[in-house]
Amino acid sequence: MRGSASSLTTPPPTAPPSGPVPRHIAIIMDGNGRWARGKGLERLNGHERGAEAVRDCVKGCRELGVEYLTLYAFSTENWKRPRAEVAGLMKLLERFLAKEVPELNTQGVRLEAIGRVEELPESTRKALDRAKAATAANDKLTLVLALSYSSRVEIVEAVQALAREVQAGKLDPAAIDAESVSRHLYTRAYPDPDLLIRTSGEMRLSNFLLWQLSYTEFYITQTLWPDFRKDDLFEAVRAYGQRNRRFGAL
Ligand code: IPE
Ligand code: IPE
Ligand code: MG
Repeated sequence: MRGSASSLTTPPPTAPPSGPVPRHIAIIMDGNGRWARGKGLERLNGHERGAEAVRDCVKGCRELGVEYLTLYAFSTENWKRPRAEVAGLMKLLERFLAKEVPELNTQGVRLEAIGRVEELPESTRKALDRAKAATAANDKLTLVLALSYSSRVEIVEAVQALAREVQAGKLDPAAIDAESVSRHLYTRAYPDPDLLIRTSGEMRLSNFLLWQLSYTEFYITQTLWPDFRKDDLFEAVRAYGQRNRRFGAL
């Protein structure tokens, strides 16, 4: 007899890829609405299922030894969506943050956030602050949530900060270089992403990490975010392992 009864119902676990592992993975989690529509459900059901994909990807990153995982969870442009969807997303985020802390601690994951988090509703901001504080001592994986995030706003804020330093006589304009710009971005504490994944097949950045993705490898999959699992992450990392990163040299 081949295999046990359980092997007929549970697919065999996919082995993690053996090649190079990105230090930093960034993901544009897209397709929740289309996933829901395809199932005759509300868009918010798609966002809820998306939280399961997040959970599984965090586990996958821990297995691989990825150090940073940045997830695009809410863009500044997403404020333009219907009020009920925005409110539902904020509540979902609050529930997720409250519920996931024990598991994040078990896995050694530190939670951080980038973006204009001050624009989030107060209850969401509080949930975020609590989760950040409760996981601050973890050092295996840094999970960065991009919330009310806009790359152009981030760059504008960096330019303003640099201009203020020049005005105060603390900075010579001629001394401004790529390093000094990077140091003024929200992401100053993280290395640039090595791999960018976008789900649901869209071929655009949608205002995500424009500066930081200059030499990042892109991986676009048709899979919708609520269906994305650890195996899909491993597949993306396997593809990353085949790339020849030249950084402009030969
Ligand atoms: C991504 O899924 C989640 C957010 C942008 C908050 P979408 O809600 O954009 O899903 P689609 O693109 O409409 O399918
Ligand atoms: C990008 O997805 C933002 C997030 C995943 C949070 P969108 O669905 O908002 O992007 P567009 O509208 O397709 O460019
Ligand atoms: Mg979308």
